[in-house]
Amino acid sequence: MVHPLETIRERKQRPHPSTFPVKLPEMCIKLHGIKNAKLILDPLMGIGSTAIACAKLGVACVGFEVDEEYLRFAAQRIRSLG
Ligand SMILES: C[S@@+](CC[C@H](N)C(=O)[O-])C[C@H]1O[C@@H](n2cnc3c(N)ncnc32)[C@H](O)[C@@H]1O
Repeated sequence: MVHPLETIRERKQRPHPSTFPVKLPEMCIKLHGIKNAKLILDPLMGIGSTAIACAKLGVACVGFEVDEEYLRFAAQRIRSLG
């Protein structure tokens, strides 16, 4: 049964409901110029698609994510890059 006051948090999909593909930040960083990208800031990190793009391109990245579960998943994705 669906609760009438269901919240977005209750409807949270796994691992995240609204990510974008890693290719997108990767293309944005390349367009900006990798040499000019000293540090990328992602204030809404989610499961870390931008951080992964940065890792792949060798660009430093910092980010914020309010949801610990998403943050853990992001860290796991980044670690799995090796
Ligand atoms: C659209 S998602 C970002 C998805 C990310 N681009 C990806 O591909 O994984 C936005 C994220 O911002 C986080 N968020 C919302 N408000 C925040 C805040 N004040 N500080 C840090 N993170 C926040 C949410 O938990 C959510 O995971």
